Amino acid sequence: MPFTPRVFSGIKPSGDLHLGNYLGAIRRFVPLQDTHETIYCVVDMHAITVWQEPEDLRRWTYEIAAAYIASGLNPERSIIFNQSQVVEHAELSWIFNCVARMGWMARMTQFKDKAGENSEHVSLGLFAYPSLMAADILLYKSTGVPVGDDQKQHLELTRDIAKKFNHDFRKQIKSLGFDEEYFPHTESMVTGPATRVMSLKDGKKKMSKSDASDMSTIYMMDDADTISKKIKRATTDPEPLPSEAAGLEGRAEASNLVSIYAALADRSVDDVLREFGGAGWGTFKPALADLAVSVLSPIAGEMRRLVGDKPEMDRILRNGADRARAIAVPVMDEVRQIVGFVR
Ligand code: TRP
Repeated sequence: MPFTPRVFSGIKPSGDLHLGNYLGAIRRFVPLQDTHETIYCVVDMHAITVWQEPEDLRRWTYEIAAAYIASGLNPERSIIFNQSQVVEHAELSWIFNCVARMGWMARMTQFKDKAGENSEHVSLGLFAYPSLMAADILLYKSTGVPVGDDQKQHLELTRDIAKKFNHDFRKQIKSLGFDEEYFPHTESMVTGPATRVMSLKDGKKKMSKSDASDMSTIYMMDDADTISKKIKRATTDPEPLPSEAAGLEGRAEASNLVSIYAALADRSVDDVLREFGGAGWGTFKPALADLAVSVLSPIAGEMRRLVGDKPEMDRILRNGADRARAIAVPVMDEVRQIVGFVR
């Protein structure tokens, strides 16, 4: 039985959205609507694996849903919802907790990075995080997941969980009428340039909401003046821009600004450098600032309008959750039968 091609992705409501979220994730979600069945989630249950002020969590949840829509996702076409409204995510993740092995989880580099020296004191949920992510994806039998490089290991784990589930329960899966596999093989979809947007102050560090310096991160809700100021004060080297991509080697900050320009303009880095090669930063930075403002300002305006209309946002998220449930509930019914739960 072939699987319907279906795309799932999610963003955690744990901070203000920034340019990295936009260029690396949200903007890439939009064209997939034309070619795939698409499900875009606000993963609030993942957010609480570390402490979140409840009021902030709620605000960020609305903000991400608004950013999805303001960036061009159509809630009539894509399923847009927040994870906790579809309780099946929690139920499937528990079953996956019993499929995944401690050793698999202990190898996750994101957990090791986040827990650091402190692994005795982080939440149990943080350790189980990748199993909930596998549940997000497989609850909809998703075949494609657009994510950044840093999530590739979690997708491998998702495939391992699907494989072990398919294997451990092969008899029950067969007797339900499935050929071989109950859960599909899920591919990561990483495409195009500027997947990784780096800090404006240190081209070797990822742009992040937790950066100590506010000047290193452009937020989606920053106003035009703030965006311009941050770009004009971005760290660079004294050299002019090269005329081709090879000339950016070893110049992390220069390379970051050029790839941000390319991504915002939907052009290749070489193409941008054909135009700006030989120019100094005094020319390039104002051009980049204008471009960033022209792309981000209309989106920020629409986000403000949407988050100001809570009844409309609630309606959209409830409708998305209903449509998500229409897929998830029959899957969970089968999973319960497969596992041997009495209903
Ligand atoms: N772990 C992802 C991140 O930190 C967020 C996420 C949760 C996700 N569930 C997902 C991404 C399912 C893709 C698919 O970016």
